[in-house]
Amino acid sequence: MIPVKNNIFWVGKTDWELRRFHGDEYSTHRGSTYNSYLIKEEKTVLVDTVWKPFAREFVDRLRAGINLDQIDFIVINHGEIDHSGALPELMEQIPDTPIYCSENAVQSLKGHYHQDWDFRTVKTGDRLEVGNGKELVFVEMKMLHWPDSQACYLTGDEVLFSNDAFGQHYATERLFNDQVDQCELFQEAIKYYANILTPFSPLVEKKIREILALELPIDIIAPSHGVIWRDNPTQIVEKYLEWAGNYQENQITLLYDTMWEGTRILADNIARGIKKEDPEVEIKLFNTAKTDKNDILTEVFKSKTVLFGSPTINRTILMSMAAILDGIEGLKFKGKKAAAFGCYGWSGEGVGKLNEMAMKAGFELIENGLKVKWMPDARVIEEAAAFGKRVGEKSK
Ligand code: FEO
Repeated sequence: MIPVKNNIFWVGKTDWELRRFHGDEYSTHRGSTYNSYLIKEEKTVLVDTVWKPFAREFVDRLRAGINLDQIDFIVINHGEIDHSGALPELMEQIPDTPIYCSENAVQSLKGHYHQDWDFRTVKTGDRLEVGNGKELVFVEMKMLHWPDSQACYLTGDEVLFSNDAFGQHYATERLFNDQVDQCELFQEAIKYYANILTPFSPLVEKKIREILALELPIDIIAPSHGVIWRDNPTQIVEKYLEWAGNYQENQITLLYDTMWEGTRILADNIARGIKKEDPEVEIKLFNTAKTDKNDILTEVFKSKTVLFGSPTINRTILMSMAAILDGIEGLKFKGKKAAAFGCYGWSGEGVGKLNEMAMKAGFELIENGLKVKWMPDARVIEEAAAFGKRVGEKSK
């Protein structure tokens, strides 16, 4: 048990080995943590648990710290298995302990575990006395990022247990935000936002404004992944407001896949043209078949313009580009520009397909696309640079 503040303790699990999360969907280069908290006031309250593979270890460690029968309430802020996964193991020991959660979480918890535990549903503004004059106040966080998500706030200590919101997949032996490398921390925080929360950006802003309007003093934000924000905790709230507002940096990203290097040569020379037009803009190139998809999506999140490149194959585009564009569509990025490019030998549908997918994903097309038959020669290489120059100009 690691002290967080007064009678609040971290009882979670640091997962240094994790490299893939949500199946294979999310890369976790720096591992993750599953944060669970124990509040030991007159009442003893457990807030969230850990991922299922660590259930036994979690319950054993909890038992080493307290008699499990002392737990008066369990709060489950979100039913996803990385936070509720130890419930079956724990509830075998204390089957009658009430579980406080949202109405939707009853569905997700029953759906996952098929158990009829003593669920007590709570909604925004509901309070639970924990003794010594302190209360837990519940705040629904619907769609941040599941319909069952909620947060809870401990009065007196002024700690917001925010669950996934404000989290990072970031394993560290240090518990607090001021103790870790700030560059690593914010890289993981923005990647988390870009890959998980972007589709819900309009709700993020609305919910944050709603919480701020409650004028609750916040000393600590304790999310369910990564470090706890104790040093200037509102800095991550401000970042979320910034990220939720159709975020972009002065960056143009080129995403491409290539078969015989033709489309790669186009990408290099388009980049050269952009640079010539705008020496200040950050230009990044990624071969989508060779780069981690979640890192790519983070770069798309940061971009004002994205160029999509693929040769034509079987009257369509290469699979890595199709996959990344599908992922981009799902994340519902807003306010970004796009253009497409690619080589072909025979039928040449690739660029049209890229245009279609980029538009479907909500991008504004700023060029008809650069479509090149066979390998680029010296003339085409200069055409690619001119195309890049126009993209640079239209992206300003
Ligand atoms: Fe960390 Fe939505 O689970």
